Amino acid sequence: MSTSPATPLSPVFQAARRRTFAIISHPDAGKTTLTENLLLAGGAIRAAGAVRARGQTRRTQSDWMKIERERGISVSASVMTFDHDGLMFNLLDTPGHEDFSEDTYRTLTAADAAIMVLDAAKGIEPQTLKLFEVCRLRDIPIITFINKMDREAQDPFELLDEVSSKLALDPAPLFWPAGSGGRFKGMLDLRKQTFIPYAKKSSNDDEGHPDPVAINSNAISRFLDPEEQAEVEEGAMLVSEAAKPFDVQSFLEGHMTPVFFGSALRHFGVAELLAGIGAYAPAPHPAKAVRNGAETHVAPGDGEVSGFVFKVQANMDPNHRDRIAFLRLTSGRFTRGMKLKAQNTGKSMSVNAPVMFFASDRELAEDAYAGDVIGIPNHGVLRVGDSLSESGLLRFAGLPNFAPEILRRVRVKDPLKAKHLKKALEGLAEEGVTQLFRPMLGSSDFIVGAVGQLQFEVMADRLGGEYALDVMFEPSPYAEARWISGARTDVEDFQDKHKTAMATDIDDQPVFLGKSSWEIGYVAERFPKVRFDRTRERG
Ligand code: G4P
Repeated sequence: MSTSPATPLSPVFQAARRRTFAIISHPDAGKTTLTENLLLAGGAIRAAGAVRARGQTRRTQSDWMKIERERGISVSASVMTFDHDGLMFNLLDTPGHEDFSEDTYRTLTAADAAIMVLDAAKGIEPQTLKLFEVCRLRDIPIITFINKMDREAQDPFELLDEVSSKLALDPAPLFWPAGSGGRFKGMLDLRKQTFIPYAKKSSNDDEGHPDPVAINSNAISRFLDPEEQAEVEEGAMLVSEAAKPFDVQSFLEGHMTPVFFGSALRHFGVAELLAGIGAYAPAPHPAKAVRNGAETHVAPGDGEVSGFVFKVQANMDPNHRDRIAFLRLTSGRFTRGMKLKAQNTGKSMSVNAPVMFFASDRELAEDAYAGDVIGIPNHGVLRVGDSLSESGLLRFAGLPNFAPEILRRVRVKDPLKAKHLKKALEGLAEEGVTQLFRPMLGSSDFIVGAVGQLQFEVMADRLGGEYALDVMFEPSPYAEARWISGARTDVEDFQDKHKTAMATDIDDQPVFLGKSSWEIGYVAERFPKVRFDRTRERG
């Protein structure tokens, strides 16, 4: 593939100014508030409230689903794009509910960096850890934002310690806070040697904080009394001795995280964080792919347009069965009306109505580049994990399917609708809402699997709302699912001996359903030539 010269419209130039990132956090750490404030700081929205309203209504699940329905295709939720300071930011939204879903994992596959938001009073919480592990698995560099400094916080040294011990990540603070809670006065910018004062304002005024002052100027005494000044300077000195200096390379390789402090709610520290994302988060990098059976790398500046589908979302309006596939572009300059071909099916499609997602609206995308996400309306042709390119020859490393943590048997109350149920379940599985397992033997039951309970509720709601199916979820005898693989004869031999516990997934791949993890361990020991996998890459 030819590499275009770096003119303003060239893929090389445009990809270099993309920053595509996601926010990971434990519920209530402040992701929604931070999202909104990043959009404010980036000039994408003018007033606080737009995103916030979503966070509030999301509090109860039924509201959450109602909102999704009202929004039709949940547009602004999936990706928010804004142009700021010469850069194009794509903020990918990960589902905010406490139930962990595969959607989150998949969204992270489309991000080049992640912002880890910690509640300053709570430090690293269970979901932070889980999401962090996914980032590490995919080598996604992490920027840390310690939020809620306007509330009583843990000692910042303890917070850094926790990052280092629980995540095995070197924290490199770029700022150092002066107090917290009622005594929060601002923070030192350790690189610029300035003090950024914090002023508590009761309004949502974005310009409420005074300008930074030099550390060794007299002006600092306007904000800190001598004791506070001595304390923050001592802390800053200690931390610069104790912590390794920030090293971009080490950050990009996933060994180090730059640490920012602030209060998303009070619009403090967010502009600094945004500048940090611009300065340090990586532009899209070459993606691993296979072309004609041979491994290759697709560079963002390559001439050929390519990308992969990381999410498919149905239009929640029952009258419109169309879906939107979210394509993360990996190379080239995409223009509206372009023909792209799916590698697995060989099907070509003209992308005439690609959608790009700006803070509160969606707009037709005239052009897009590596790092951008475009929404492609389609009628179920595109699936999660599909690779699209002009030649149709590129296949990107598949997106993972994860072994579900909850398995349920699903039945429809009206037995005449069993066929209808099958179609509906397949549709939802293709979208990646839940996984579907069809037992190989006998029963006409379907087993559905999910990583979190919420997925079942969304599923029941959608089966009722979109397909008019009244379903029951019953306990399934199975607790664990593993994809099995190996030499054909070994796999067949295993299947023969475990007929009643065998099923196939949506792509007809064999899956062993175990009653417990102990059972999985037991059979795995007895059949050492068969592989039992917790994940399977689709696409
Ligand atoms: P999430 O998306 O991560 O779940 O968190 P969200 O932004 O919804 O924030 C959770 C709660 O924390 C909200 O309060 C929010 O106002 C508060 N919050 C977020 N950032 C800050 C911060 O920097 N400082 C302080 N003091 N609070 C913060 P809530 O009471 O649950 O909701 P609301 O009544 O304020 O809307």
